[in-house]
Amino acid sequence: MLIRPRRLRKSPIVRELVAETRLSKDMFIYPYFVVPGSNISHGIDAMPGISHFSVDTLLKDVEKSLKLGINKVLLFGVGEEKSEDASSAYSNKSVVVNAISGLKKEFGDDLYIVTDVCTCAYTTHGHCGILHDDYVQNDATVEVLAKMALSHAEAGADMVAPSDMMDGRILGIREKLDSQGFENTSIMSYSIKFASAYYGPFREAADSAPGKGDRKAYQMDFRNPNETMREAFLDEEEGADILMVKPALAYLDIIHRLKENTNLPVACYNVSGEYSMVKAAANNGWIDEQKVVMENMYAFSRAGANIIITYHARDILEKGWM
Ligand code: PBG
Ligand code: ZN
Repeated sequence: MLIRPRRLRKSPIVRELVAETRLSKDMFIYPYFVVPGSNISHGIDAMPGISHFSVDTLLKDVEKSLKLGINKVLLFGVGEEKSEDASSAYSNKSVVVNAISGLKKEFGDDLYIVTDVCTCAYTTHGHCGILHDDYVQNDATVEVLAKMALSHAEAGADMVAPSDMMDGRILGIREKLDSQGFENTSIMSYSIKFASAYYGPFREAADSAPGKGDRKAYQMDFRNPNETMREAFLDEEEGADILMVKPALAYLDIIHRLKENTNLPVACYNVSGEYSMVKAAANNGWIDEQKVVMENMYAFSRAGANIIITYHARDILEKGWM
């Protein structure tokens, strides 16, 4: 036998030498849920280890994250007044706006702030847009999203991340931002976002479940890989800076295909359901949490993700898993 692949697996040193995939803490974006009020730090039942924070406690927790090397956060606003027209989503007094200003004042450019842009936590019906005759109105929703993105940019957000799946929203947001002098605010598009049951725990955390119906008339059908590329290329043409695939674990094929077909950075969102399944099994002693989490992280990277949005980031760095 001339060829013995096991030679290069013989010792830890040689395995490190030939490792084809490497992870870095710089790849991680860590999500935070911000609520109105003060002195709130309340664990989310369905997402062990993740909490709701008011702005004051958020500042303290982000300081801990920064010390661990997590310097990119994704903010979600929760618990704001809900209405038919989602007006609290683009208020310049929203909890997300307050969080951005507070974080920028405290940490300046040491922290990179990304914000989720969507109406579902701000509408009475829980849909990701303006509802009329039981249909989410595309163009009216894009206008609301653009206003929401602008309110975040004005407060100092570095990047906005629309998660609604309306057609044309990247262009709508880009034009709005540029018209107000925010041409340097980046857009990470939730380009390929599937209608997924893996968002379950998040909808509890964000109180954003649709009261009636589902999100299939805007989020993507997971049977359609070709359609994912159409969505991604449209976002690219409309000016997106980063393209995201969501969820991540059940869609490694899509991450890979996107990476092969775009020159933009590719992000993946390791969503709440994927996180909570691992946590539940680990808390029952059924799996080794560290090993499973790191196996998943390498899978995202190997598939082609340059950026990983994950609730596991804190554990990984706090517990020295990499
Ligand atoms: C809002 C939004 C959702 C997630 C991110 N932004 C939920 C949804 O679309 O229902 C899911 C994140 C997660 O599950 O961790 N549109
Ligand atoms: Zn939404």
